[in-house]
Amino acid sequence: MKTLVIGANGQIGRQFCSLAAEAGFPVRAMIRDQAQAAYFESLGVETVLGDLEGEFAHAFEGCDQVIFTAGSGPHTGPDKTLMVDLHGAWRAMALADEFELGRYIMVSALRAERPLAAPEKLRPYMAAKHAADELLRHARTSHVILKPGRLTDEEPTGKVTTDPEEVDHNMVSRGNVARALLALSENHALRDREYLLLDGVQPVSTVFA
Ligand SMILES: NC(=O)c1ccc[n+]([C@@H]2O[C@H](COP(=O)([O-])OP(=O)(O)OC[C@H]3O[C@@H](n4cnc5c(N)ncnc54)[C@H](OP(=O)(O)O)[C@@H]3O)[C@@H](O)[C@H]2O)c1
Repeated sequence: MKTLVIGANGQIGRQFCSLAAEAGFPVRAMIRDQAQAAYFESLGVETVLGDLEGEFAHAFEGCDQVIFTAGSGPHTGPDKTLMVDLHGAWRAMALADEFELGRYIMVSALRAERPLAAPEKLRPYMAAKHAADELLRHARTSHVILKPGRLTDEEPTGKVTTDPEEVDHNMVSRGNVARALLALSENHALRDREYLLLDGVQPVSTVFA
């Protein structure tokens, strides 16, 4: 069985797919453009074309779980935040239910539950992430909600924490998020759980054992 990765061509998604390929963990990368396929082909990772604003039901065929790590990004407006981060995530939940997937692993965001506490520009994004998380909590499919702090491109240490009290910063490298996603994907016993995620001192494999 396979894990569908929505947002596979993103910075976290690519690192996740590379780690999964190395580990022999079967994934299907959902990409928006055939030109993006070469990277995944070089890893030996299967691709499927799909757009969260279009048709993507076919991507779920034969998969047993899905990771949602897509995002409209900081260079688009609230229209794309609504259509990708909220409506796209929700449509993926409906498909996970329809195809009877075992789990939906959501890359959310630290403090998404408090959009009004975020800087004004980030509020629509946080509201979209919060609403998507809420929908997922009430979905039939089991879920894992991973809430990373501010993403960095630092060299991944492989060490994280899920307890913000343990550290005096709010950051996590994208590489560590990818490692956490792989550990979570491989451990099917973890269901209906939520984790904050920051760079820390515990090996990812211990944290998500
Ligand atoms: N930035 C932060 O500090 C922060 C903090 C916490 C959580 N997050 C979350 O982390 C996740 C990803 O981070 P990242 O750095 O990997 O982001 P990224 O590099 O911007 O990747 C986002 C991916 O989403 C894809 N995407 C956008 N619109 C889509 C659509 N309509 N249909 C299908 N795919 C679409 C993009 O596709 P293309 O490659 O085709 O453009 C891209 O591959 C997101 O869920 C984001 O909300 C971010």
